[in-house]
Amino acid sequence: MSRDLLITGIGELATNAPRSPDLVGVVHDAAVAIREGRVAWAGAAADLPAAHSGLHRFDVGGRAVVPGFVDAHTHLVFAGDRAGEFCRRLRGEPYEEILASGGGIHATVAATRAASFDDLVASASERARRMLQQGTTTVEVKSGYGLEVGTEVRMLEAAAAVGGRVPIDVVPTFLGAHVVPRGVPREDYLDLVGGGMLAACAPLARYCDVFCDRGAFSVEEARRVLRAGAERGLRPRLHAEQLAHTGGARLAVEVGAASADHLDHATPEDAAALRQAGVVAVLLPAASFSMRAPQAPARMLWDAGATVALATDCNPGTSYVESMPFVIALACLEMGLTPEEALWAATRGGALSLDEADKGCLIAGAVADLAVLDAPSYRHLPYRPGSSLVWAVVKDGTVVVQ
Ligand code: NIG
Ligand code: FE
Repeated sequence: MSRDLLITGIGELATNAPRSPDLVGVVHDAAVAIREGRVAWAGAAADLPAAHSGLHRFDVGGRAVVPGFVDAHTHLVFAGDRAGEFCRRLRGEPYEEILASGGGIHATVAATRAASFDDLVASASERARRMLQQGTTTVEVKSGYGLEVGTEVRMLEAAAAVGGRVPIDVVPTFLGAHVVPRGVPREDYLDLVGGGMLAACAPLARYCDVFCDRGAFSVEEARRVLRAGAERGLRPRLHAEQLAHTGGARLAVEVGAASADHLDHATPEDAAALRQAGVVAVLLPAASFSMRAPQAPARMLWDAGATVALATDCNPGTSYVESMPFVIALACLEMGLTPEEALWAATRGGALSLDEADKGCLIAGAVADLAVLDAPSYRHLPYRPGSSLVWAVVKDGTVVVQ
């Protein structure tokens, strides 16, 4: 497949060019020239250099184009579903009580352990395919529903296989420290996660994550696991301050994590520390929405200067959501971000949180991942929640959805 393309007829192009006064670097009546899967040139069509005018053309008829969404926090690989638990939560049963009594994550662990590799790949690929159709071109995928060496390895291998089946980039994260599995002494499990399990999983992952929260792992336990991960070359990222304020954000700063995620209970002091350390705040409004919990203080984090990313947290318990456009709508309507901020966070912010500086923008040299919207402007993403506005997707310079 050719990875050269000239996209013309772009009514509104969001480039996310650095230091744009409007944050998202809008260019009207634009074109994008792509060579070998990377942006060679982007700008006003009237200024297109003659050298690119002979490329194969894809005219998008005046539609808006945005960078491909970078979904920087998902639990995409799992078996079974928890619709029954969802209904119990709707009737008022708390998530933490369901988890403590052996349901919740433990239910998904049982189903995932029982699933074959092929079944895990097939179901995760279907979810990834739906994500791609909604404009996601890079997705972070965590393990964490195995909680035993063989299944944690199988989950990470399944994540890699999804990237081979669906034209979407998969970034794998080891989350052996999701919860302590039933029937295993806590200390024994921590030894395993930081020992044999990590040794088996580290070659298959880029990051090491811990669910550091009330009812999961303490700051001290998380520090131990993240340090062991770092010794094996895995950069930390962290579930922090979701259910309660326990100090996870400060730990993320201390260990030089790529991101601190959730942050529903983050304080202004946390925000200042994240900004200073350059730890990306990955916000997951669909999780709080699905749990009917108050949203993370996105406005406060943004105004404090923290780098903010948005992600789906796609998982069978707290957020069975695959759509980044829906997350952008929630970020605006429920968290108070502007459409510009939400678009930037769902693209460039996600890319920065995954250490992928050449993604999440459409400037010369960037990876040519983009979504064409069946709308005149990216502003229609939050303005029309729940609509399928993605008209086409280009991945590495190839049209993969139309
Ligand atoms: O990010 N918070 C921890 N982990 C997931 C939920 C996992 C589950 O309930 O299955 C989350 O929300
Ligand atoms: Fe999560």
